Amino acid sequence: MELQDIFTFQSFHEIWGPYGYGYDLPEMIEKEFGRMKGITYLDHGGTTLFPESQIKAFYQDLTRNIYGNPHSHNLSSRLTHDTVEHVRYRVLEHFNTSPEEHTVIFTSGCTAALKLVAESFPWSSACTGEPGSHFCYLTDNHTSVVGIRGVSGQLGVTSLPVSPHEVEARARHSPRATSAIDSQTAHLFCYPAQSNFSGRKYPLSYARGIQTGRLYPACERPGRWLVLLDAAALVGSSGLDLQENTADFIPISFYKMFGFPTGLGALLVRNEAAAILRKGYFGGGTAAAYLAGEDYFVPKSSVSSRFEDGTISFLDVISVHHGFEALQRLTGGMVRIQQHTFGLARYSYVMLSSLLHSNGQPVAHVYCDNEFQDPSSQGAVLNFNVLDGHGGVVGYSQVDKLASLFNIHIRTGCFCNTGACQVFLGISNQEVKDNLEAGHVCGDSIDLVDGRPTGSVRVSFGYMSTFEDCQKFLSFIVNCFTDKPFRMDEERLARLKLAVPFVDSVGHFSPSASNGQLEHKTDHRDTAPSLISSTNGREIRIHTPKRPEERNNTQILTNIFIYPIKSCAAFEVREWSVGPLGLLHDRTWMVVNENGVCLSQKREPTLGQVQPRISLASNALHITAPGMNVITVPLGDLKEQNLSQRTCQSKVCGDRVQTVDCGDEVASWFSEFLGKPCRLMKQKPDFIRNMKKAPENAGDGPTAVSLVNEAQYLLISRASVEMLQERISGRLDDPSIPQAISMQQLIARFRANLVVTGTNPLEEDDWSGLTIGNTGFRVAGRCGRCQMIGIDQESGARTQEPLKSLSDCRQGKVTFGIYLLQQPMANSSAITTLSVGSPIAPELSKSDDY
Ligand SMILES: Cc1ncc(COP(=O)(O)O)c(C=O)c1O
Repeated sequence: MELQDIFTFQSFHEIWGPYGYGYDLPEMIEKEFGRMKGITYLDHGGTTLFPESQIKAFYQDLTRNIYGNPHSHNLSSRLTHDTVEHVRYRVLEHFNTSPEEHTVIFTSGCTAALKLVAESFPWSSACTGEPGSHFCYLTDNHTSVVGIRGVSGQLGVTSLPVSPHEVEARARHSPRATSAIDSQTAHLFCYPAQSNFSGRKYPLSYARGIQTGRLYPACERPGRWLVLLDAAALVGSSGLDLQENTADFIPISFYKMFGFPTGLGALLVRNEAAAILRKGYFGGGTAAAYLAGEDYFVPKSSVSSRFEDGTISFLDVISVHHGFEALQRLTGGMVRIQQHTFGLARYSYVMLSSLLHSNGQPVAHVYCDNEFQDPSSQGAVLNFNVLDGHGGVVGYSQVDKLASLFNIHIRTGCFCNTGACQVFLGISNQEVKDNLEAGHVCGDSIDLVDGRPTGSVRVSFGYMSTFEDCQKFLSFIVNCFTDKPFRMDEERLARLKLAVPFVDSVGHFSPSASNGQLEHKTDHRDTAPSLISSTNGREIRIHTPKRPEERNNTQILTNIFIYPIKSCAAFEVREWSVGPLGLLHDRTWMVVNENGVCLSQKREPTLGQVQPRISLASNALHITAPGMNVITVPLGDLKEQNLSQRTCQSKVCGDRVQTVDCGDEVASWFSEFLGKPCRLMKQKPDFIRNMKKAPENAGDGPTAVSLVNEAQYLLISRASVEMLQERISGRLDDPSIPQAISMQQLIARFRANLVVTGTNPLEEDDWSGLTIGNTGFRVAGRCGRCQMIGIDQESGARTQEPLKSLSDCRQGKVTFGIYLLQQPMANSSAITTLSVGSPIAPELSKSDDY
């Protein structure tokens, strides 16, 4: 029998269907992983490999942007802060959860995350009457988990190793007794989502079972059970759905997912469990306040800030964004990666375990708990020892050395998982101690003691592994270790081939997903009707405001501006509908950089030259900019336009916002105009963001806002602008003031929605509310100003004015204009419109409480 006749692609397809990602895999590998040429890399469990495009994108990001220390407050620091926050969202999104449910604490790796839990868990030692905490762990855990014992043991906490079969063997089906629930003693149960030794996946449902006291050991010990799910080995080739798994602590390392960055991991903490963690040490960035000369320290309220001591590895965190992007771009996501990698592992398992020496003896002893039928219970890992024709084990060092000769990179030893190694290789505790006496230490090359193995061989697959990698590995085993002529156990082969789970035409598996990892649920929130469907606003032409003196000092609304795209130019209208978040379509879109960070004029003054115009007649947003053709974005539901609906979470003024990507065409348009990669995002119709500081008199009324910085509406008065203009004109002999700023330019710089006339300068500061036409508003505070008003909205040039004059005339206070919140109408379904020329009726506040 010839090798090429056995390990064929045809034979692969008889064993597993899905392969690759719907394009030419070798071409992608040549482009992205050229360095793998001639190498069969099969240690993705150790670390996977990064694609070149990921590093190039990261490099471009670094050379395009200045990332300052996130603890400072300058512009470059804000950029870092916002980008890091965006990455946190991206991490949560990847695991199908949200900041409402989980927090990401960045660490230097999975081990550091485990250590963080070990050192902050509220262990209690047994004392009179109280049983004390238990630290329980599956024996199939990585050393870094078992090592928690070193911390808990010092505190007198009982450690309880549990073998995998014990957990389900001792399940309790009835609810726990109330007295058991009453005990508040905290216990920790740790298990791996996937064994780093055998690739076995443990059911995600264990977490709930332990937390509710139904599974051993929780069913025997009263108290509050918290669960740590070590996801380090799983996340490289499988998704993890944290809606399915209720574990409290989930540590990961990012190099296992992307190959880069190294030295960065995270602890995902369920928010409900975060409060239980205690902290002794406090480092830079973690304190809300502390005293150097007194024992006084108050931690920051946010969980991540409290636990991220010192400056996090922020550039590495930023590179995680490029990791996710590359992964998605090259594979389409974790479901496909899991299918692809599992197929390779399954094929290798079926072939290797059916391979026989000429005398009919098996060539390998594979260490696994299942027959690789189902990717929800087995990862892309194959662990084995090679056997000679007499059944004797060939030491792993021997296999490793020969593999190196053939440029095959595998992992050997006991993989920092002594528990699994002992079970699979049948090594007793005494033998481990005896082996140490005999000179064998973890990780060395003493692979056999008295002919018995001290470890094994592990091959593991990554998303860029190929069928040819399996072929090379299997051929290597046959060529180097099999007595010829080799044979295949045909009976076994036929049986295993049949054991494949049902896979439908799009590659989804049968619903046997005991590990719950395969299918992310569709986010049905996406299907909520979009805002536009409720509008009946009318489009009108640009209006040149009349001078106030022409209005005989009556108090009226003179201008309505909407800013459909945050930080871009205004679109002026004479009449416009009031929506639930402010003026309809105001700040509904925003431009984000390649990392999903919202761009503003502070960083990109040229955004002011981007002119959006809403046409309700054609249901479209038309965008123009100097030197660019008009581009049109439909106003309606993006889903209807077959756009990707890719959602993104970003920060706007410290708030999390959910947006939907408006597609590649408009992204290219903005990228070309701004000269850097960016995208247009639209606020997700069903995402509710409330005002941070709702006015006290807002009562229980709605305070939802769009992508604005602070409030639904911003109002300025012409009288105040005129006063400021006079100030500036009076300083024109100052060489720092290049020229007068016209009234119109000045109004444009304040980027208000509503401009009123007929009032006294700065009178609006004392209003508590007002009515415009029939629409009532509450004042939500004065608008604090920054260097943004120094940007000329036409040219993008920055000037010191009007901030300087504003600061002078207000004795350092730089507020200008007031925020408004619309008051709900008695008949909430009535559609309200605001019109230029409508009378305004201000209400004076009783006290100066701003
Ligand atoms: C299951 C498991 N847990 C923990 C770790 C430790 O991860 P790190 O070395 O990245 O801290 C590993 C590393 O391989 C692992 O596979």
